[in-house]
Amino acid sequence: MRRAKISVIGAGNIGGECARSIAMKELGDVVLLDIPNKDKPELHMPKGKALDLACCGPVEKFDAKLTGTFDYSDIKDSDVIVVTAGVPRKPGQSRDDLVAINAGIVKNVAENIKKYAPNAIVIVVSNPLDAMVYVMWKVTGFPAHRIIGQAGALDVARYKTFLAFELGCSVEDIQGILLGGHGDDMVPLPRLTSVNGIPVSDLLPAEKIQACVDRAKVGGGEIVKLMGTSAWYAPSAGTIEMVEAIVRDKKRVIASAAYCESEFGISCPAGDGMFVGVPCVLGSRGVEKVITFNMNADEKKSMDESVSHVRDLIGITKKLLPELSAPGNATR
Ligand code: APR
Repeated sequence: MRRAKISVIGAGNIGGECARSIAMKELGDVVLLDIPNKDKPELHMPKGKALDLACCGPVEKFDAKLTGTFDYSDIKDSDVIVVTAGVPRKPGQSRDDLVAINAGIVKNVAENIKKYAPNAIVIVVSNPLDAMVYVMWKVTGFPAHRIIGQAGALDVARYKTFLAFELGCSVEDIQGILLGGHGDDMVPLPRLTSVNGIPVSDLLPAEKIQACVDRAKVGGGEIVKLMGTSAWYAPSAGTIEMVEAIVRDKKRVIASAAYCESEFGISCPAGDGMFVGVPCVLGSRGVEKVITFNMNADEKKSMDESVSHVRDLIGITKKLLPELSAPGNATR
């Protein structure tokens, strides 16, 4: 049986870390693709990273073929593709500030995925996430269950980390879920957060929980301020959690940006939905199911605000790329 073929588009900080984790977990063979450096044409970063990672194999004891390339034909017949191409945030920037540059980059990546890997499941990581997933869906025309955005896996991880700091317990024992867009108005859900089933509200005062929620919302920005660029270890870890669920058909329930038309009070015309963070069953078909549940009034209000923000961002993206407004052949 052949190993899964997993391509990573964008061999920068997140892409490189994703390639490393895929190899370490032996999830499949990796193709790492980037573009040439215009100022230094003698360099070949993806080939260099692939070679460096391959040499970890004897020490880390993994078997994986790692290929670095500038050539899209090398992603042919990929099973899963992770898209990290684009520019990251600098201090003072929001994710939305990246839309003008990254929309064009993701469009170009999507055209090549459509051409060379028409059966792939695509996980988009580039920001602003919810809009970039939409671009990927419209340009590839792939069925929506094969287009997924990585956001919730990371945002939930940050939320759990901050709770574990407060509780002084293992992060492994915290359960939680989160809804909405990958912006500062994401919707963590303390009502559904527990420590092995014990409601977190029984363990921490409301203001401490709220502080964790607030810190999770701006957790990305906190790191941008510290490092001068955006995070890569946790975004990569969240992405690999999704890749593993798909490649191993684990049916994991992971908050992901998935196609919605009417879920969680979202209201979109049939066939013209949007991608928003919701709990999804991830398996070998990609998003196998969106899990819905009843929200209370406060949660509904927060979700509506977050969805409205995603809608605005898609509107801006459609102005930048008018072709996205055409009906196209993208399907549910
Ligand atoms: N095709 C392929 N790769 C591209 C393209 C393109 N058209 N344009 C840019 N890239 C590559 C860059 O050359 C770079 O190596 O994408 C890579 C991005 O890597 P980094 O700059 O290190 O950024 P990173 O931190 O990995 O973040 C990537 O993910 O979370 C988001 O906000 C983040 O949008 C950013 C993306």
